[in-house]
Amino acid sequence: MHHFAYRDGALHAEDVPVARIAQAVGTPFYCYSTATLERHYTVFAAGLSGLDARIYYALKANGNLAVVRTLARLGAGADIVSEGELRRARTAGVAADAIVFSGVGKTEAEMAAALDAGIFQFNVESEPELRALDKVARGRGRAAPIAIRVNPEVAAGTHAKITTGTKQNKFGIPWPQARAVYALARDLEGVAAVGIAAHIGSQILDLAPFEETFVKLRDYVLALRADGHDIRRLDVGGGLGVPYGAEAPSAPAEYTGLARRILGNLGCHLMFEPGRLIAGNAGILVARVLYIKESEERRFVIVDAAMNDLIRPALYDAWHGIVPVAEPAARAPLAPADVVGPVCESGDTFTLERPLPPLRTNDLLAFTTAGAYGAVMASTYNSRRLVPEVAVKGDAFAVVRPRPTYEAMLASERLPDWLAAAGATAARGRPDEGSR
Ligand code: LLP
Repeated sequence: MHHFAYRDGALHAEDVPVARIAQAVGTPFYCYSTATLERHYTVFAAGLSGLDARIYYALKANGNLAVVRTLARLGAGADIVSEGELRRARTAGVAADAIVFSGVGKTEAEMAAALDAGIFQFNVESEPELRALDKVARGRGRAAPIAIRVNPEVAAGTHAKITTGTKQNKFGIPWPQARAVYALARDLEGVAAVGIAAHIGSQILDLAPFEETFVKLRDYVLALRADGHDIRRLDVGGGLGVPYGAEAPSAPAEYTGLARRILGNLGCHLMFEPGRLIAGNAGILVARVLYIKESEERRFVIVDAAMNDLIRPALYDAWHGIVPVAEPAARAPLAPADVVGPVCESGDTFTLERPLPPLRTNDLLAFTTAGAYGAVMASTYNSRRLVPEVAVKGDAFAVVRPRPTYEAMLASERLPDWLAAAGATAARGRPDEGSR
């Protein structure tokens, strides 16, 4: 369910015509619907009512401050994977004691920053990481609350690049080894093992892998308690999928119902880290058609968005809906089109042979379900400016990350001394640029 729909022949984000934003902001841009974000959060939260449970929104899906603040105001905590995300979450208004720090490669500096902030929990992914955290925390006279991320060895049945819960993945610690790491943790003064964490992958449509995981986690909690550990928290990660096209993922209520049934009476604080589920369908990427290039074999629709703005199709062969912003006539003939960007790589292809209505230069297109892992994965490849982001609420819209100027983009680089003097002007463009 989302709030992007045609009204009077024009695609709207809530009550705002998308074309109006395009006119004000230029293209390409991301557009987020506040009502959709709020709805996804509240539906998930409703499924947890009465449980000692909390949503720790996975910031990596969409860390825009406006998005995170919208969710924080509803009570969301944050799942972070870097100091940058820690700062982002705090700036957006997430309480420190509602932040969980995941990831296989936390640096000591990041651990120190998170300890100083007073975060809720560190999810530890290896024994060396445990020792490093112990050292950093002891140096500060603290004991870091930790969960050990176990690898439940469950195949999530999703794309290989976003599967995380099998032996072949770098994530977590296999259970037999994890048990020994808990024993080690007990002897370390700088850590307090209070929980177990797992995350098996992303864009998982079926409940079966979750069920298998939850049952294992339940057993792990009981086994660790039998070993004498005071396990009070259980972090089940994120991963529930969203419909990009025809998929029919399990509903959030079924997922939370499953968690309630298997984990609800363990006496643990239950932690959920959804990312895509909250943000995915709350965002679109809007682009303009630059050229139509037709040959005998293909119809190429060349748009002004590219793989640097939305990399999911190039990286995962991901499918995104593509809809004209001006609603096509009901009987408009559909013909296959390859929608491609301007970047100089064949991989800069959003879709191949997609049945699309007739399109012309200057038409606006929306790539749907682009709110998660869209803008956050954008780059400036080909020296394209970072794609801007716009938030909509009702009939209002605001640019929440502006498109940088070319001057700002170039000014962020420095020439070394040996190039800064004579002869460098040609490389810099204008003589007054590059010296800032
Ligand atoms: N928790 C942990 C520890 C994670 O690694 C992730 C995602 C999540 C939570 C949130 O998962 P979600 O609910 O969003 O599925 N860039 C890829 C997805 C990478 C997911 C990485 N980890 C994509 O565009 O499909």
